[in-house]
Amino acid sequence: MKTSRIAGFYKLGVVDRREALASAGHAESADLAAFDGGGLDRQTADGMIENVIGTYALPIGIALNFCINDRDYLVPMVIEEASVIAAASYAAKMVREGGGFTATSTAPVMIGQVEIRDVADPEAAAKRLREREAELLARASEITPGLCARGGGPVGIEVRVVGGDVVVVHVLLDCCDAMGANLVNSVSEGIADDIAAIARGRVGLRILSNLSVHRMVTVTARVPNAALGGRDVAVAISEASHFAEIDPYRAATHNKGIMNGVDAVLVATGQDWRSVEAGAHAFAASSGSYKPLAVWRASEDALEGELSMPLAVGTVGGALHLHSGARVALDMVAAETASELAQVTAAAGLASNLAALRALATDGIQRGHMSLHARVVARAAGATGILIDRVAAEIAALGDVKTERAREILQRLRREGPQAESNNNELRRDHENESSLGRGQQAPREPDKNESSA
Ligand code: MEV
Repeated sequence: MKTSRIAGFYKLGVVDRREALASAGHAESADLAAFDGGGLDRQTADGMIENVIGTYALPIGIALNFCINDRDYLVPMVIEEASVIAAASYAAKMVREGGGFTATSTAPVMIGQVEIRDVADPEAAAKRLREREAELLARASEITPGLCARGGGPVGIEVRVVGGDVVVVHVLLDCCDAMGANLVNSVSEGIADDIAAIARGRVGLRILSNLSVHRMVTVTARVPNAALGGRDVAVAISEASHFAEIDPYRAATHNKGIMNGVDAVLVATGQDWRSVEAGAHAFAASSGSYKPLAVWRASEDALEGELSMPLAVGTVGGALHLHSGARVALDMVAAETASELAQVTAAAGLASNLAALRALATDGIQRGHMSLHARVVARAAGATGILIDRVAAEIAALGDVKTERAREILQRLRREGPQAESNNNELRRDHENESSLGRGQQAPREPDKNESSA
């Protein structure tokens, strides 16, 4: 089995990280070179959307340590925010100590909505539509012969009466490994006249719903208290969860932390992340008040978390056949089905949530964010190699995380010469000690104690 643990990955340079991935059997070096051009050439980009003027790059990194349903996964993430990948890797490492994530998903069933307006007797129309379900499904199957041949296709209808004289029919379509937007829209459009005739009304909109409640993923994690830093931390995290459960303002931010992980995987693997975002928040609000997508509880010896959300992704179709970077990322995940990719994506979400809550419930988030942001600023000021840590530590300690200050410090360190480097080694050792999580736990040295890992 390929491992998702690659020691010292974060310490390597970009090229060496690619080599490490290749040596661990996760990817071919030649394929990873696609990321030099952002995974997308200008000509392909010009064929993808309109009025193209170029491509727009974001960093892609790999979150490590993920074990889901007893299998290790590398989790590619595209994101502009420092600390998300380190945090997810760190959380995945803690979860690993409790046996890894457990994930399940429903069949990949999407909803196509057909709206029928001006229905004189909506309840009678709904009854007639339900009675003729088999006929409607047969018609929908005619529209999707390829999907039916692959083992998917229409699996049912739901009929809803909304707003007085409007009847909405949901055509449920098993999309197999496709996200399915085009399939669902074709069926919705193709079947609308039949539905209107039965309902005796006028065809309105025909489009998929992004509230894909039939395409759900559930991920659970159990982190032993010892891995977390003690029972106090577990209790503090469950209290943080409770806050999100009783307050929509907090729930929004709690869910933002989940979507940090989810979206980053979606973007890396070429998915329609807006559709997942729309579905996630609609689902979070479906009880009538906005709720957290993941909740945490402290038991006697561990912290237990569960994330449930709709997650429509595809391993075929969409932008995937065009974007070579997305294809390489998808190959690294090595998910055999779209449902498996959804499980990995959700695990990244739960890991991101865990890391954020752990930081918030202990030291606060700024410390970790600032120390990682300081490294970004140090690099921007021109620091390279070991001077990055040195400059970052100084501007963080000064509380002046600005490029100008970083440049001044860099110039001074360069003047000091090798001495600066040996100081830097000491600093690195101090930082390692400092990364103790308290309560007797030693964090694996990473960019920051809250967001360690890799
Ligand atoms: C920042 O990108 C995400 C957090 O705000 C999430 C949270 O508050 O749970 C740290």
